[in-house]
Order: sequence, then structure tokens, then C-alpha cells
Amino acid sequence: MAADQPAWWTSAVVYQIYPRSFMDSDGDGIGDLGGVLARLDHLTDLGVDVLWLSPVYPSPQADNGYDISDYQDIDPLFGSLTQLDELIAALHARGMKLLMDLVVNHTSDEHPWFVESRSSRTSPKRDWYWWRPPRPGMAAGDPGAEPTNWQSHFSGPTWTLDPESGEYYLHLFDRKQPDLNWENPEVRQAVYAMMRWWLDRGVDGFRMDVINMISKDVAADGHLHDGPPIPGTSLGDGSGSFLNGPRIHEFLAEMHREVFAERNGGLLTVGEMPGVTVEEARLFTDPARAEVDMVFQFEHVGLDHGASKWDLRPLKMRDLKASFGRWQAGLADVGWNSLYWDNHDQPRAVSRFGDDSPAFRRNSATCLATLLHLHRGTPYVYQGQEIGMANHPFRTLDDFADVESLNHYVHAVSAGEDAEHVLVALRRMSRDNGRTPVQWDASPSAGFTTGTPWLPVNPDHLEWNAERQRTDDTSVLAHYRRLIALRHEEPVVALGAFAMLLPDHDEVYAFSRSLNDDALLVACNLGRRPQPLFELLPQAKDASLVLGNLPIDEAAVLAPWEARVLRLR
Ligand code: NOJ
Repeated sequence: MAADQPAWWTSAVVYQIYPRSFMDSDGDGIGDLGGVLARLDHLTDLGVDVLWLSPVYPSPQADNGYDISDYQDIDPLFGSLTQLDELIAALHARGMKLLMDLVVNHTSDEHPWFVESRSSRTSPKRDWYWWRPPRPGMAAGDPGAEPTNWQSHFSGPTWTLDPESGEYYLHLFDRKQPDLNWENPEVRQAVYAMMRWWLDRGVDGFRMDVINMISKDVAADGHLHDGPPIPGTSLGDGSGSFLNGPRIHEFLAEMHREVFAERNGGLLTVGEMPGVTVEEARLFTDPARAEVDMVFQFEHVGLDHGASKWDLRPLKMRDLKASFGRWQAGLADVGWNSLYWDNHDQPRAVSRFGDDSPAFRRNSATCLATLLHLHRGTPYVYQGQEIGMANHPFRTLDDFADVESLNHYVHAVSAGEDAEHVLVALRRMSRDNGRTPVQWDASPSAGFTTGTPWLPVNPDHLEWNAERQRTDDTSVLAHYRRLIALRHEEPVVALGAFAMLLPDHDEVYAFSRSLNDDALLVACNLGRRPQPLFELLPQAKDASLVLGNLPIDEAAVLAPWEARVLRLR
């Protein structure tokens, strides 16, 4: 990034709405576009620049809209195209931009493209998806006859048999999410045309769902390769064949040429990329290569995973620092970071990285926010994070709704795992934690709906809600407002160079940011013990306070979960 010509999004903050859980305007218990339109003042009040809207397209909702059956319309569940146009206009009038979710690694199995593809082996769209015969020497439907041994992200094999044609189709996610075949140029052109249609309509860019999975490592004869066996299962890890596959850079560069190159610089693209390395991310986000503006990487949200996300491991703060530090250094001179704790696929950060016990919840939520927003990169705020929403007290299996959680339970229990043990992991890691309705006020359904919410409202909304925080200057919400304003006002926050300090300290996370003659010191205490700030960081003695999350009792000491942003002289 040339420091003299920073892109607009270097000082921007993005807010993510998961529409199903944001605000319901018609009493059916499911959030919708009417609800988003009704709550725009909340975004203006927060000061965010961009809204990323998770999918609202027609969909059978097998994966809450990440299974799309029509890319160019709005599901009546969420509203209409007219309301989407209204949203674009309303956001633009408020000086905000709109990012749509682009889900083109797969469609729904109810998308007309797949319906046609499935209709016969000779369908002109057969090759738009990945169809393969059973493994040589085996009959369709035999155990293990799937064309490869890959395990799906949502448990079980990545292949489902279509009994009519006797062939299997590939789905890296649920069986209702067949993968598009990006090797086929017709598929790519259809996707690009759809993207241009949305940009012509006025949207300002895309968040691209699992975009580094679109290129599969396929041999010249069409063969796909088995992956290394996953211990304890009959399946294998196929990620070597589909994460950052051989043509991924070619496809993204082509997409850029076909969709974005001729348009003005006001757009934004962010590629969701599980398993991406810093080295790859440098290539993806190098402006000279014209692929995407930034990527979502997953390293820091994998630090508490063992063999899978359900295999819980204690999180070490030192690992967190090492990971963020590597990404800050790796994308310092080329490319750009996106910064996030929470999204609709993650448990709530205050429960996971912070401390959601009553004594520390507010302070740890604001401390984590300060840490993230003072890094170099574009911060993303996920709905509810700005009021310190925490994990839900789920009890039984019936409390969960997410396809990933439910599939995992069925597979794990049928493989012999103890049911209660599986539930413990679901309570901690289920994506439903991030999907309970936004807590607007203390009324029975938290002001989210007049009906019955599709997922229960967290009982803590009596205390933790936006209404209560709006006028409280010490609230989590007020702190987010200040952090977002700081990025807008201070070039050093947006563009300053990052240097990690105290890399080996277990509880204090500290770093500096510097730009020309300006330098900030950021010190965050990620624990319950007071820390001797002036001993650890003597330069803090002469520094002046720019922003803190707590009233300062003793300047020389960082209180539990205290964060300070200081200007060095
Ligand atoms: C990533 C999305 O964020 C997640 O919610 C979805 O289930 C998968 N991609 C499949 O689209």
C-alpha cells in the first residue's frame, strides 16, 4: 500500500449484519430487510462506514441462506428487491456502503442450474458441477464408493449419490450445497455477469464466501485425489485438493478484470479464505496483482481447536500474539489485513477470548475491542459485539439449530462419542452462539421481534442491551463509538507501522504504531491480575492518554482487562 495514496478502506470500519438475527419487522420471528432499514440509526450512531449483509437471496435455508437458489432476487422471508434498493439508497444517503455476500463456491441443490445439471448425464449444464462415477471396481452406493475420501466441512463424505444417474456430486459443505465447477468457463462468465448486475444496481462490493475453495486440483483425465486419512474416521482430509487450488489466483485475477477493473475505486472486496497462509495472503492482496483487497484468515480463531473445532484446547494468549504479530508483519509492506474476533460462524469473542463473568465482561469486551481496532487493517464489527453479547446458555440438543452443529452431533454420537461430551463442545463452539437475536432492549424478545424468535434470545438481555448502553458513556457501545472515531481521525491508527512489544509476556498484549513523527503505544491486560505497566513498558511513563477503557486509578498499573492507548512524546 503506498502510504501517500491510501485506499479509502484503510480508515473504514465494517459492520456485519446476519439478517436472520438482526431485527424482525413483520413478527414472523426471523429478521428481515425491513428490520435492517428500521435500525439504520444504530449504524450511524456507531459511526461505521460499510455494511456487510450476509445472504438474503432466495434459498431453502439449509445453511441459513449460504445455499442460494437464485442469485438475483431476495427471499420473501427477508423482503424484496425494492427494499434492497431502498437499503442501498438509504446507506448511500448516510455516507455508508453496502457489501453483499457472494456465495459462488456452491449453489443450493434447488438452484435451476443444479436442477438442470442433475436432470441427465447429457444435460448441457452437467459440467457446471462436479459429477463423478463411483470409485473404479465399486458399485454406486457401496460403502466407500465415493469418488474421493474427502470429509465434508459439515461432517460425513463430500459426495452424495444421485440414484437416477448413478453418479455422485461434490459438496464441500452440506449435501444441499453442490460445488460449482469453476473449470468450466461458462460457470465463471455466469458468475461475473451476476456480480456486474449487483454492482450496476449500486452495491459497493462483495464479501466472498470460501473463495479460496473454488479451484480444485483436478488431473487432466478429470481424476480428483484422495487426501490423507483422518484418524478415527473412514474419511480423509481433502483440503490439499481444494484450498488455494492451482488456478485460484488465475480465477480471482480474471474476476477482477471482468467485474471490477473498469469501475471506480469506491468498491471493496474481501475474500473469506480458510487455511490461507500469510505468504498466500500477500499474493491475494497485493494491489499490483489486482485480485482482492483483503482476506479473512482463520489462524487466530483456530488457536483453541485440536484436531477439529469440536476438540477443545485452552487458548494461550502468547499464541494469539504470535499469530497476530506474524500477520501484521507479513502484510506490512504489501497487502492489507482484515481484523475480526466475531462473525456468524464463531462463538462470541467476549466468552472465548475475554471473560464473560459479571465482574469482567464489560472490561474484557472493551479491552478486546481496543486491541483489535488499534491494529493495522480494516476492523469488522459483528452485530451484537458492540454491546458485549456473550455465548448463549444452551442446554440440550433441541436448543441448537445450525446444520453444522446438528450434523456433527449425529456423526459423533453414531461414531461412539459420549453424547454429553459432544454437547459440551457444541455449547462452547456452536455457530448458534453468534446467531441468537440482537439484544435491542429489555422487553421479552429483546425488541427483536413481536413474534417467537427463531433462536432463543439470551436471557441476559435484561441487563445487556443496546437501549441501556446507548446513553451510558461507560458502556461497551460507547467505547466502540470512540474506537471507530479514532480510526477516522488519526492517520497513525489507520496507516501507522505496527511493532509487537513484550512478545513473550503471557498476559500483557502491547504494541506500538508509528507514522512519520507520531507514535502510539497500546497496552492491554488480557487477564485478571494487575500488571506493572511502567516496569514492563517504561516509555508509558511520559506518554499521554489518547483512549482507555477504564478510569485510571494508578497510572503505573494496568488493572485487570484494562486497555490504554497512549501517545508517545
Ligand atoms: C462460510 C460461511 O461464513 C458459513 O456460514 C457457511 O456455512 C459456509 N461458508 C458455506 O457457505
